[in-house]
Amino acid sequence: MQSQSVTDGMLPDFLDDSVVAAWSASGAPLVDLLRQARTPGRLTGFRRGGRAAVLVTEPRHVHQVLGVGGDRYVKRSHRARPLIGDGMLTATGEAWRSQRRLLQAMFTGRGIQRWEHHIVAAADRVVGRWAERARRGEPTDIAEDTQFFTVDTIWRSLTDHPLDQETYVDLAAVQDIVAALPADVGGSAALPPEVETALAALDERMHRAIAQARLRHSAAGSRSGSGGPSVLDRLLDAAETDPAYTDRLIRDELVTLLVAGYESSARTLTWAFVLLDRHPEVMERAAHDARAVESVLHETLRLYPTGWLLPRHAPADETLDGRRIPAGTDLLVCPYLTHRDPEVWPDPETFAPDRFPARTPLPPGAYLPFGIGPRACLGTRFAMREMETLLGALLSRFTVETTEPAGEPVFGINLRPAGPLFARVRERS
Ligand code: HEM
Repeated sequence: MQSQSVTDGMLPDFLDDSVVAAWSASGAPLVDLLRQARTPGRLTGFRRGGRAAVLVTEPRHVHQVLGVGGDRYVKRSHRARPLIGDGMLTATGEAWRSQRRLLQAMFTGRGIQRWEHHIVAAADRVVGRWAERARRGEPTDIAEDTQFFTVDTIWRSLTDHPLDQETYVDLAAVQDIVAALPADVGGSAALPPEVETALAALDERMHRAIAQARLRHSAAGSRSGSGGPSVLDRLLDAAETDPAYTDRLIRDELVTLLVAGYESSARTLTWAFVLLDRHPEVMERAAHDARAVESVLHETLRLYPTGWLLPRHAPADETLDGRRIPAGTDLLVCPYLTHRDPEVWPDPETFAPDRFPARTPLPPGAYLPFGIGPRACLGTRFAMREMETLLGALLSRFTVETTEPAGEPVFGINLRPAGPLFARVRERS
């Protein structure tokens, strides 16, 4: 580490440039460099491509950056911006505030109850699929099943319609589109033709949904389905009084909720099955106890927070824990490493769902699978409800045995297990 003293304050300690060069030459994933940079109790970082990045893993630092300093440390333009446009994930300032205000009530407090019937209907579909697989003695791909389920729940909440197979194919293509986008924000490289085609199909699907909802609106005078207005209804209402809600912005918000809303929940469910497969005694407990299902999900999110890296940026000079953070510095908040802090989580690599609910309050910033502060996840309660519903329904009815080991973790935009997860499922007697 190079410790640097300057007249107007100490900078964080930076990794020696030779260490960064060796990491870069090795082709190892970013998380390996972060592991090397991490020094318990201290603010450390590295320089890459002329830019300084500071790693933020200590709970008190996380709390300062995302919580207390949530308005000062901001998101840089999102890599997926060409896909999600000006939706809530990328918006900043007043535009973000008003978008968040509009949808917040649908996803918090009692607003969440409106999604219950959609979630239950989508879970029933997967239970039906597994019953069929069990009857035929065929293995099922859990990664695919959980993904279909989470796209189905989000599509129902957006449009009030169940998902059909053709729509599923168009919507689930967003992960290939995101993967094909240039890694440098604002990069202008042309997209491969098949990705352009997938993007066009997705846009058409979204614009058709908007047109249908608008027709329904004017024909019936009421847009409410059985559980109250859908997200799309709410956006169309806003468009009547706020000119900011053009069809383009409505499309961006739908794609944002799709992108933000399905992959994390699907991967978390897949991780839960990976961990339960290694811990059959926990699987048995969860099969008979809803509270154990909840604890399994919290512990899964601790070990495999799908949002494993939450980057921020300091547009102005800041001071963090007595260290100088010059304007232009990137701050890499890393829940994956924070959740493995042995000071907070004894024996951190061990899967132990009975850590939850925590017996004593956790230090602020110590557990953040859904982020913290003003930009914390809009869908936390929706996600927990849908994951508890599906996992509870499947475990109580089936035994599950994976037929090949899960792949290694892939630290991409999301943290996911590599490859499919095939399992043999059997009806419990
Ligand atoms: C297990 C499932 C999920 C996990 C682990 C998760 C995690 C996160 C995290 C960590 C953030 C904060 C990102 C940051 O600070 O940079 C976030 C933001 C967000 N999430 Fe989720 N999420 C999940 C499910 C969902 C669902 C189901 C929805 C939609 C219904 C959703 C909608 C959003 C939105 C809109 C934001 C951006 C909020 C803003 O910037 O104001 N998420 N999510």
